[in-house]
Amino acid sequence: MNDAPTCKVEIRDVYKAYRVDGQPTEVLAGVSLCAAAGTFVTIIGPSGCGKSTLFSIICGLQQPDRGEILFDGVPVRQRLGAVGYMPQRDLLLPWRRVLDNVILGPEIHGEDIAVAKREARDLLPLFGLEGFGDSYPAALSGGMRQRAALLRTFLCRKDILLLDEPFGALDAITRNGLQEWLLEVWQRFRYTILFITHDVEEAVFLSDKVYVLSARPAQVRREVRITLPRPRQRAMTLTAEFAAFKQQLLEALQDSPHSQVSTT
Ligand SMILES: Nc1ncnc2c1ncn2[C@@H]1O[C@H](COP(=O)(O)OP(=O)(O)OP(=O)(O)O)[C@@H](O)[C@H]1O
Ligand SMILES: [Mg+2]
Repeated sequence: MNDAPTCKVEIRDVYKAYRVDGQPTEVLAGVSLCAAAGTFVTIIGPSGCGKSTLFSIICGLQQPDRGEILFDGVPVRQRLGAVGYMPQRDLLLPWRRVLDNVILGPEIHGEDIAVAKREARDLLPLFGLEGFGDSYPAALSGGMRQRAALLRTFLCRKDILLLDEPFGALDAITRNGLQEWLLEVWQRFRYTILFITHDVEEAVFLSDKVYVLSARPAQVRREVRITLPRPRQRAMTLTAEFAAFKQQLLEALQDSPHSQVSTT
């Protein structure tokens, strides 16, 4: 019998409230989800429902009021440093060159900087940044900045990655290119990815599974398995099967009054 845990990451019945002006504001109201090892799991939900809060809890920046976070089936309370986390804004340090930005993880962990830089330099072409290692972030396009932030997250060398709307601020063409590129990189590294987006098409194109959250306080409204074959190709977005998945997600989002979902 195979008794390996089925979830690489499991969120079990997590509650969180903030105090705003002395009043408790409930943000997460019993959220549970599971990402199997090596899968791509996306979370969508109305703006302000608590998605980024959930990520900051998973990565250990905050603790839930109730509930547990499990990695490989084991509840983990001290989670800081256990996952790679790309926050909603890219937060590249403007005074550091690209190469110095992307090795931040290894540097913080006291690793040999020269070795980390060599590894990062070798990965620049894969991340579309060849020749830009010595540039400052201000000299990069929006898409390049996001790829640099992704390289920094990948170089943390964790097998769980949390990506909070990494392509949110980009135009549609850049975004499509980066989605395809991310899938290629992911196939190569096979990390477990948790991903947040407002874009249902992006969610279907990338994911093995999508969780739709309700408006705040967030609860899981629906879990949709995206059974489209891999590798995914752009032409798949034109199929009836793809449209049916999009429809399922849109229906689940529909009664959320503050939904800011893109249906492109
Ligand atoms: N540190 C904090 N203190 C008080 N309230 C907070 C804090 N962080 C978030 N909130 C509130 O919690 C709710 C959820 O915020 P969160 O950033 O998790 O939403 P989100 O789903 O990521 O939204 P978006 O899609 O716009 O990024 C919001 O109402 C927000 O104002
Ligand atoms: Mg957010």
